[in-house]
Amino acid sequence: MMTRHFKILCDMYIPVLLSILQQTHFGYQTVPEDEKEEKVYEVFENVASKYDLMNDAMSAGVHRLWKDHFIHRMAPVKGTSLIDVAGGTGDIAFRFLNSINQQIKPLVTVCDINQAMLDVGKSRSESLGYLSDVNFIKGNAECLPIENDQFDVFTIAYGIRNCTHIDKVIQEAYRVLKPGGRFMCLEFSDVKNPIIRQLYDSYSFQVIPVMGQVLASDWKSYQYLVESIRQFPNQEDFKQMIKEAGFKMVKYENLTFGVSAIHSGFKL
Ligand SMILES: C[S@@+](CC[C@H](N)C(=O)[O-])C[C@H]1O[C@@H](n2cnc3c(N)ncnc32)[C@H](O)[C@@H]1O
Ligand SMILES: *[C@@H]1O[C@H](CO)[C@@H](O)[C@H](O)[C@H]1NC(C)=O
Ligand SMILES: *[C@@H]1O[C@H](CO)[C@@H](O)[C@H](O)[C@H]1NC(C)=O
Repeated sequence: MMTRHFKILCDMYIPVLLSILQQTHFGYQTVPEDEKEEKVYEVFENVASKYDLMNDAMSAGVHRLWKDHFIHRMAPVKGTSLIDVAGGTGDIAFRFLNSINQQIKPLVTVCDINQAMLDVGKSRSESLGYLSDVNFIKGNAECLPIENDQFDVFTIAYGIRNCTHIDKVIQEAYRVLKPGGRFMCLEFSDVKNPIIRQLYDSYSFQVIPVMGQVLASDWKSYQYLVESIRQFPNQEDFKQMIKEAGFKMVKYENLTFGVSAIHSGFKL
């Protein structure tokens, strides 16, 4: 665990340094007309690298460990069919595919409301050799463009917090899962331990918006991020909501003192 985290920290600081160097240079560039197309592609790449960079910077790389653990808990097998909602740039889908030790991979559906995020996911899947293993669709988690009873597992990672009607998202999960299927959610949650809580709050309110400003020139979005985390229902309340949608054997697991939590339930 320690060496892995050290490697993640190294992986994280190199892109940070590169990004700062790149930004210092960007202003002096003039772009000839015929390079425009390449430039557009670069902008997309920047969206992806910035998004991933911010995740790494804010969590000191720990979001990778949480996502790895999430897939570990899912324990997918060769036939498992997955829909990853609010799947963004594909972090969960690619980890899922990596974890399946089979030549022929199951098809994964990634659904997101934002086309730019899906485009980034597509280009990542191409470079990872997973282009034919992932089906990217644009859609709202509150009203999925999917028929009933289709998937073994429904995942949503750091996406449900941004939805207007959380209860509708859970109902949609129930609808598109096959009987016996499993709902799994990875989301920021509530830290109760008073000492950890104080550290976590100072870090969230004093460090994260500054990082957002320095690395992404965007104070507001990162201020919104820390506020929205506090507004999201706590572990027990969210568990109750999942039960109310009809899921059985609903439980949750705290990760890193409850900074994140994994909620899970079955459609039985
Ligand atoms: C913080 S990102 C998480 C992405 C990815 N799951 C991950 O863990 O890295 C949140 C994603 O939720 C998507 N999203 C927000 N509201 C949505 C909705 N109502 N339906 C589907 N996707 C939504 C956003 O477009 C964004 O890609
Ligand atoms: C979702 O995120 C966007 C951008 O971060 C924000 O403007 C919007 O208010 C959020 N919606 C909800 C319901 O949290
Ligand atoms: C998880 O964390 C929450 C909030 O910090 C706490 O109320 C709860 O008892 C913890 N639950 C488990 C199962 O560890």
